[in-house]
Amino acid sequence: MMKAGIIGWRGMVGSVLVQRMREEGDFDLIDPVFFSTTRAGGSAPAIGRSVPPVRDAGSVPELAAMDILVSCQGSDYTAAMYSKVRAAGWNGYWIDAARTLRMNDDAVIVLDPVNRSVIQNALAKGIRNYIGGNCTVSCMVMGMHGLFAHDLVEWMTCTTYQAASGGGAQHMRELLTQFGLVNAEVRDLLTDPASSILDIDRRVLAKQTDGTLPMENFGGVPLAGNLIPWIDRDLGNGVSLEEWKGGAETNKILGRGEAFGTPATPIDSLCVRIGAMRCHSQALTIKLKRNLPLAELTEIIAGANEWVRLIPNERESSMRELNPAAVSGRLHIPVGRVRKLAIGGEYLGAFTVGDQLLWGAAEPLRRMLRIAIAFEAAGGAAGGQVASRKALVNA
Ligand code: HSE
Repeated sequence: MMKAGIIGWRGMVGSVLVQRMREEGDFDLIDPVFFSTTRAGGSAPAIGRSVPPVRDAGSVPELAAMDILVSCQGSDYTAAMYSKVRAAGWNGYWIDAARTLRMNDDAVIVLDPVNRSVIQNALAKGIRNYIGGNCTVSCMVMGMHGLFAHDLVEWMTCTTYQAASGGGAQHMRELLTQFGLVNAEVRDLLTDPASSILDIDRRVLAKQTDGTLPMENFGGVPLAGNLIPWIDRDLGNGVSLEEWKGGAETNKILGRGEAFGTPATPIDSLCVRIGAMRCHSQALTIKLKRNLPLAELTEIIAGANEWVRLIPNERESSMRELNPAAVSGRLHIPVGRVRKLAIGGEYLGAFTVGDQLLWGAAEPLRRMLRIAIAFEAAGGAAGGQVASRKALVNA
């Protein structure tokens, strides 16, 4: 069995990854070794069988003893360790949730229900870096898979509604603390049916703006009862890094753009943080290449993969099934509000929600682990990593 090192398994993405790997029996296929930057020597998480004590995630020789490394430790860790491990001659599979390597020429963004052929081609060429996409992008591409597969998208805009958890565990805590403090401010008025809603609103606003709410994680702005229309770095051209990823990563996932010798599909985003706990949602405007009937388009969307679920464009289903709380912790990707727009028959509107910790993070990684194992079992590429690792370990 291949030795797979799991790094960053205590964080939010890593915990979901381990949980999903347990559920799907992935640990039966590997010799797992858990790594930590701070807890070497400690106990590994429960995976239903005994595993060795946790190893040091800062040790190049220990990392290089693995056939596969799966990292959910974050971009700083990847930036610090990836080159060192490769510089030591390690030629194993680096599977990573962080964005650090995503756009590198020698890396593939993995979302196998959509881009299995891109992955297979890369494996055959001996590519060893398989990186999960941006959470919002992966969820959107899963939902719009059918339209991309039928080459129907001329261009697209995405307005995102991204949950606090996209920022991390501390962001979720901060949001809930804000909600609690805001609520405490008006509790007496809320319980008094005769109180004025304008008084409640005034007090809430005063609490949101008096600087006493914890706001460090959201950049000094309250999110409770509010929204923040900027996510991640400012690229200096009116676009946030999160928005840039929408176009760049979607094209790379689909195997489009200059690197693949095809024109890129223009995709523009406006990314907004909202007070949802988990799940990212997106409102999409799609310019179609062909004016197909709505029934045909919905069929194409619904049939693209086993996770997409078409929600009828009517009030009850849209309200009940197309919201973050309804999707949280679930693998399906609902796509709804699908309709032709008033601006013309070639314009389609849609709304989609996805659990960004599942299809947006953990799921593509654990599936890539399986794909790499299967590829090696079938003989691998020339100069396969197992041989290289053994050479390194014996050196
Ligand atoms: N960049 C994403 C966000 C993280 O901030 O929401 C992925 O969940």
